[in-house]
Amino acid sequence: MEQTTFAPQTQSPSRRLSVAPMLDWTDRHYRYMARQISRHTWLYSEMINAGAIIYGDAQRFLMFNEGEQPVALQLGGSEPADLAQAAKAAEQYGYNEVNLNCGCPSPRVQKGAFGACLMNEVDLVADCLNAMQDAVQIPVTVKHRIGVDRQTEYQTVADFVGTLQRKTACRTFIVHARNAWLDGLSPKENREVPPLKYEYVYRLKQEFPDLEILLNGGVTTNEEIAAHLQHVDGVMVGREAYHNPMIMRHWDRLFYQDDRAPIAYAELVERIYRYSQTQIQAGRGTILRHIARHTLGLMHGLKNARTWRRMLSDANLLKDNDGTLILQAWAEVEKANVWE
Ligand SMILES: Cc1cc2nc3c(=O)[nH]c(=O)nc-3n(C[C@H](O)[C@H](O)[C@H](O)COP(=O)(O)O)c2cc1C
Repeated sequence: MEQTTFAPQTQSPSRRLSVAPMLDWTDRHYRYMARQISRHTWLYSEMINAGAIIYGDAQRFLMFNEGEQPVALQLGGSEPADLAQAAKAAEQYGYNEVNLNCGCPSPRVQKGAFGACLMNEVDLVADCLNAMQDAVQIPVTVKHRIGVDRQTEYQTVADFVGTLQRKTACRTFIVHARNAWLDGLSPKENREVPPLKYEYVYRLKQEFPDLEILLNGGVTTNEEIAAHLQHVDGVMVGREAYHNPMIMRHWDRLFYQDDRAPIAYAELVERIYRYSQTQIQAGRGTILRHIARHTLGLMHGLKNARTWRRMLSDANLLKDNDGTLILQAWAEVEKANVWE
């Protein structure tokens, strides 16, 4: 694995690899860490409700770290004017893309008539995407499922994508390769129970070769990523990139042809430590736990990974809000492993 390079398949490789939008997980602290591990991987924010940006504390929802780009803001909503206004704000903050969520199955989201149930309202989705694209210069993209409820035919997703191709300027489609079952399954079950149908996503790329088609769902290894890239333009990884962030360590070399050495664990820990101290001192309400919780999977596969996790999730140790806890936890891992 270490020796192999997978040559890019497309002319525009920027979204070859991306980290999925994940509510409560892919906040700016996680994204800071991810960006230290991979220079090129495209990062997505958590889904932010358009209304929260317009009527709430936009700064809180849109702020990101210098050097975090390329980063996309994912919006939730179904009101074209609101989405346009929120997209404009995202562009002004410096996001590189705005993405519309048409895949979230949560009952709370269904009540607001957006997320996955938008797949049943393709004309409304087209209106939303057009309003957003009219408001900004950055690309407007969409993330969706292959169908909702009992729509198991390939034609469902093909019609959805085909209609949007005709009616909008959207050219990037992120396809979570399973249905959303809107009745009876929790959001978590909706990421596990409906079967994955990668062949539907491959077929979309064959039938819509001019579109950028990104595949998402259930991808956990670099070998799987390489195999999917034979068929689609990009692969989006969610849970594995969160629970095992160091999977991203070789992505620049394997998938972006960037031969620079991957970041060393010690260097990464040092950067996260410095970042946590700066953030805590900035006085915007950040506490050590907000940052430490995203690092729990960082030592995955190493000796004393459990000690690392235990120390950085221990409420007693975290309460002093002192980032040196990260260095102390690292000392336990460092001494237990043999380093090249
Ligand atoms: C904790 C969590 C939160 C999520 N939040 C969002 C979200 O805000 N927007 C979205 O489009 N998908 C969301 N998802 C779905 C992921 O983006 C992704 O589609 C899904 O996890 C499948 O990819 P994976 O198997 O690589 O994790 C979330 C997933 C998880 C685990």
